[in-house]
Amino acid sequence: MLKTISCGELGPEQVGETVTLAGWVHRRRNHGALIFIDLRDRQGVAQVVFNPETAPQAHETAGLFRGEWVVQIQGRVELRPEGTENPNIPTGAIEVVATGASVLNESRTPPFYVNEESEVDELVRLQYRYVDLRRVNMRDTLILRHRVVKFIRDFLDERGFLEIETPILIKSTPEGARDYLVPSRLYPGQFYALPQSPQQLKQLLMVSGVEKYFQIARCFRDEDPRGDRQPEHTQLDLEMSFVEEDDVLALIEELYSDLVEAVMPHKRVPKPFPRMTYEESMRRFATDKPDLRFGMEMADLSDLASQTEFRVFQGAVSGGGVVKGFSAPGCASYTRRQVDELIDFAKSRGAMGLITISLNGEPGPISDLTMDQVRSAAARFLTLEQVQEIANSTGAGVGDMILIVAGPAKSTNIALSALRNEMGARLELTDPDELSLAFVVDFPLFEYNDDEERWDAMHHAFTSPKEGYHQYIESDPGRVIAHCYDLVGNGVELGSGSIRIHDRALQERVFKVLGYTADDVQERFGQLLTAFEYGAPPHGGMAPGIDRLMMVLTGRDNIRDVIAFPKTQSAVDPLFGAPGPVEQSQLDELHLAVVGVEDPASGDPASE
Ligand code: AMO
Repeated sequence: MLKTISCGELGPEQVGETVTLAGWVHRRRNHGALIFIDLRDRQGVAQVVFNPETAPQAHETAGLFRGEWVVQIQGRVELRPEGTENPNIPTGAIEVVATGASVLNESRTPPFYVNEESEVDELVRLQYRYVDLRRVNMRDTLILRHRVVKFIRDFLDERGFLEIETPILIKSTPEGARDYLVPSRLYPGQFYALPQSPQQLKQLLMVSGVEKYFQIARCFRDEDPRGDRQPEHTQLDLEMSFVEEDDVLALIEELYSDLVEAVMPHKRVPKPFPRMTYEESMRRFATDKPDLRFGMEMADLSDLASQTEFRVFQGAVSGGGVVKGFSAPGCASYTRRQVDELIDFAKSRGAMGLITISLNGEPGPISDLTMDQVRSAAARFLTLEQVQEIANSTGAGVGDMILIVAGPAKSTNIALSALRNEMGARLELTDPDELSLAFVVDFPLFEYNDDEERWDAMHHAFTSPKEGYHQYIESDPGRVIAHCYDLVGNGVELGSGSIRIHDRALQERVFKVLGYTADDVQERFGQLLTAFEYGAPPHGGMAPGIDRLMMVLTGRDNIRDVIAFPKTQSAVDPLFGAPGPVEQSQLDELHLAVVGVEDPASGDPASE
């Protein structure tokens, strides 16, 4: 080794020892004749002092050092002179008095500072990711991610799970996104698909008698990237035979609470994880991924709204939509500008508009409210009794502001739950050290796709309908409740799973409702259906996303910050310049012809 100890490992125990260090020049300062170098390696930073009197050669070499040069230093560990200790860093009690120094490699001036957490354009960070990953926050995230995955592996190993790799070159395993395809050279015109998840493979492993499987699995989905989505992401994919829903949820609850306790002991994870049905979650929070760290629950105001003279309310309800809202505590004093910001926010989330009702004045019972205290664009269309009823339904008091959205149920819910989260953040209702984990259960099996006028699987096609609902599969698909569950953390969907169908006939009935023809089914899912005829055990599982878990653990809202080498929002890798063109000879070998060309570097991918 070119070093005897790491910079970050140094402490008072090493005082008097002679050490060799190697790392990067983090910072350089001259103090009169003395040169001080902060030397950094993965473990931390140590101060090295070069004295021209005692080590002239080393001092001369250190005079050449620049930021991010890779250097090696010999020296003696000493306590820092009294009064010069730095309590802010772990190695702050000691310094290394250099006796020798050499340059292992020089560095160009880095494109941004490594030694401070300043804002840097993300494209530049991704282009120079190897520099970016040296920064403390990114380094700590890599270390934490390693520890998280290691904890998961050990935890599941202790409980008898086998980690089994499944192929990346496979056939379509749909999870509702587009497939990434890989052309076959040996079979012109034929393609492999990258797995959107190992779903069918893990089910086949259950038929294989594995009983308890897991994998830290890479999944590939060609969908529009968003803040919490990447074209390739990592799941803790797991599956168990002979289990019921409660067994899977109990395992996940134990895993997640033990995990957080082990890797982030200062985080508070309330236990047991609350469980609520999909129906309850939508009713109370207008979303299936509620942030349970704060209240501000929804009220359905549709009945009341249809009785008012307010056209916006009437129109929404008579058009088959809803009027819903919630109360934001203490926000009656919001200025016109603040309200306009919220209206714009609601519109950006798909609402047609936002009605606010501010209840001004001294705190007092709603029954004493007068119309003078009510500030709202809808005030002249509402009676005092109606305002009081809205206040009572939403739990608003004097001093609060009620936020109401009217329109089709789906877009109204999306906008309202985004508004609720926005208000939670604005009002700082969340404790950064609380990780609120919950299970949402009893999802519908099917969801109607209005655009394509057909039924989609709400989770995926392999999810089992609950007992008691099988008779509605064909006659009333929307009524069927599934053995399906999500893990939600601080308002983020962290994972999904279900008890699966393990019976060929039932699986075929579900495929039929989803609109697959018998030929489609045979072509896409023949392997699974055939396997079901060879002794398939009852089974179920889950797949929590590792990237999303890391986001919630580190409090980041950008998924790219928890992945070593992510893609941009437009699915580009600026470091390698991927995707990129290939040689004509490679295309020829694959029997491919390119008919339209876009330059990914322009950040303007081919439109839909
Ligand atoms: P699902 O599609 O819900 O289920 O995915 C499971 C979890 O994976 C994470 N995730 C993503 N993370 C980042 N970028 C993406 N594009 C992305 N897509 C999904 C989320 C999500 O909750 N086979 C089933 C699971 C099962 O039934 O066992 C599946 O893949 O955290």
